Amino acid sequence: MKKIAVIASAFCMLLTPLVSSAANPAQDLKDFRKHYTEMFPEIPLHDFVNGVYSVDKDSREQWEAFEEFPPYETYVEKGEELFNKPFKNGKTYASCFPKAEQGIKQNYPYFDKNRGEVVTLELAINECREANGEKPLKYKKGAIAHLSAYIAYKSRGKKGNVKIDSSPESMQWYARGKKHFYAKRGQLNMSCADCHYHNPGKKIRADILSPALGHTSHFPVFRNKWSQSSKSGDGMGTLQRRYGGCNSQVRAKPFKAQSKEYRALEYFHTYMSNGLTMNGPGIRK
Ligand code: HEC
Repeated sequence: MKKIAVIASAFCMLLTPLVSSAANPAQDLKDFRKHYTEMFPEIPLHDFVNGVYSVDKDSREQWEAFEEFPPYETYVEKGEELFNKPFKNGKTYASCFPKAEQGIKQNYPYFDKNRGEVVTLELAINECREANGEKPLKYKKGAIAHLSAYIAYKSRGKKGNVKIDSSPESMQWYARGKKHFYAKRGQLNMSCADCHYHNPGKKIRADILSPALGHTSHFPVFRNKWSQSSKSGDGMGTLQRRYGGCNSQVRAKPFKAQSKEYRALEYFHTYMSNGLTMNGPGIRK
């Protein structure tokens, strides 16, 4: 028995430095920021939340004009109505999100210690529905994006505050998301980082690439492209809808929205924008 304990603790001592050098989220965040602020020394840190418009001055004016009468407003209102509409049992979403009015988006996604899983806002919305005897919503667009838009709107001005705790499980989720971000995939063999880390500000086909710093602050978004492809003109979509689109662009098979893989990616990706100001929902091409 004693022998086993000695061996186990020696093994732990061996492992600990390995694990901590492999995943150091706080250091990653520093390096990530530094990469962009050195690449674009003229852009103030807080402006990265404006995505491609922080690096593409030409389209910025047009975007600012859109923001004066933003098409997402209707959907924020729809989201508010849904949020306050009682479920069949008489309760509302407020029973699950008592602080939504004061802003909660900045804390998502979070690692739920009891479950050993990362929970995104959209997952929590559906779990709230199911706990109250309602059917879950589809994850990428529609009502879930409206609810998420309302909650994001109420969280404007808060600073991104995703927490990676030092438990091995939380670190594993983080590491999985980080790996996804830097791994090449698809027929084009490209990673998220190839486009949004190494080449922001450069043109790819008709688009200028956005920096990944600040990517998550303004979701969900109203996209003109999504609006044009929807019968009702509803262009709202969640972050994971966007992940699917970006995976498909490199001809990789997208993962399912709210799969563990995308939740891990969202955990890493959102953590990298910690400290930046929430400004959702947003509008994009
Ligand atoms: C082949 C290049 C390419 C790859 C690879 C790629 N994207 Fe994109 N992505 C784009 C383009 C183009 C856009 C639209 C213009 C922009 O905002 O960058 C975009 C937009 C986005 C946006 C929306 C930005 C905003 O401000 O609303 C997010 C978020 C995003 N990508 C995340 C990812 C993630 C995560 C990955 C990896 C799974 C990825 N992308 C892989 C090209 C790429």
